[in-house]
Amino acid sequence: MKILLIGNTGQLGWELERTLVCLGEVTALDYPTIDLQDEDGIRKAVRGAVPQVIVNATGYTAVDKAESEPDIAAAINTRAPAILAEEAYALGAALIHYSTDYVFDGLKGSPYVEADTPHPLGVYARTKLEGEQAVHQTGGAFLILRLSWMYSLRRDSFVTKVLGWSRQQPVLHMVTDQIGNPIWARTAAEATAQLLAMGSVNIVPWLAERSGLYHFTGPDHASRYEWAKAILRLDPQPQEQVIEQVLPALTAEFPTPARRPLFSALDSRKFTETFDLHLPPWETALRLAMVRK
Ligand SMILES: NC(=O)c1ccc[n+]([C@@H]2O[C@H](COP(=O)([O-])OP(=O)(O)OC[C@H]3O[C@@H](n4cnc5c(N)ncnc54)[C@H](OP(=O)(O)O)[C@@H]3O)[C@@H](O)[C@H]2O)c1
Repeated sequence: MKILLIGNTGQLGWELERTLVCLGEVTALDYPTIDLQDEDGIRKAVRGAVPQVIVNATGYTAVDKAESEPDIAAAINTRAPAILAEEAYALGAALIHYSTDYVFDGLKGSPYVEADTPHPLGVYARTKLEGEQAVHQTGGAFLILRLSWMYSLRRDSFVTKVLGWSRQQPVLHMVTDQIGNPIWARTAAEATAQLLAMGSVNIVPWLAERSGLYHFTGPDHASRYEWAKAILRLDPQPQEQVIEQVLPALTAEFPTPARRPLFSALDSRKFTETFDLHLPPWETALRLAMVRK
């Protein structure tokens, strides 16, 4: 299989490069070799690689900063996926694209399914939703996989931040009213690679039959408070912690430039039933991510 992976230095892209490599020839590109704000550059990169599958692991992911840089966020999160979809269609290739739980407003109160109507609250969320719509409208063979709270231990993430704070301060305030699905980037990458392996030599028609939008998380969810407590409990070096207390707090106590959905957990049964693949419960993945032996 010939794969073009874009964004191999990101949380997800880094893991994808290491899992996709077993499937065949992977061309991995990142900024500045490819700049997603440069339309011609994107087209040139795709045409040069002639892939069967394009995996787009990029994103303008700075949720708060996006509020003051809407044009850059739109170029990377909306226009670039649109171009990748057009180029994939023209080449007869497939596109794997990732989106976000933040397309929802969080008011439903139970895990969102793919048929639920999105209502983005900020620039990041709106530009990601418009990226989904552009990929959908182009058609062809594509998967849009909506992730939720992703982390890696390599780049700055909620997990590395909680570990860092636990070494610096005795009290941590964590919100109990933000609920989502924590996902280790490695498990998301492995599930992507395994589904591509299933399509194998007929990958493009195989994906075309299954084209569409999928929620792509584990089966359960947690609040930031529960997640932080689990991170501290599973910390492989607890002797370094100076933390004494984790106190429950509310999102309203921590104003941010971008509004975020409070309850954005996703229901991933469509993905599981279609591909017979299971992202693990969030705490199982967290334990595996934290083990250092
Ligand atoms: N992290 C989450 O909690 C989360 C949740 C839901 C959905 N998602 C989605 O999942 C996908 C991957 O997220 P992630 O957390 O792995 O993202 P990430 O760690 O922020 O990585 C983003 C990647 O995009 C690249 N990129 C940004 N601007 C670029 C540009 N102009 N040209 C070329 N490359 C550019 C970055 O390159 P540099 O390293 O050079 O900046 C990096 O490789 C994204 O679509 C994101 O929206 C993430």
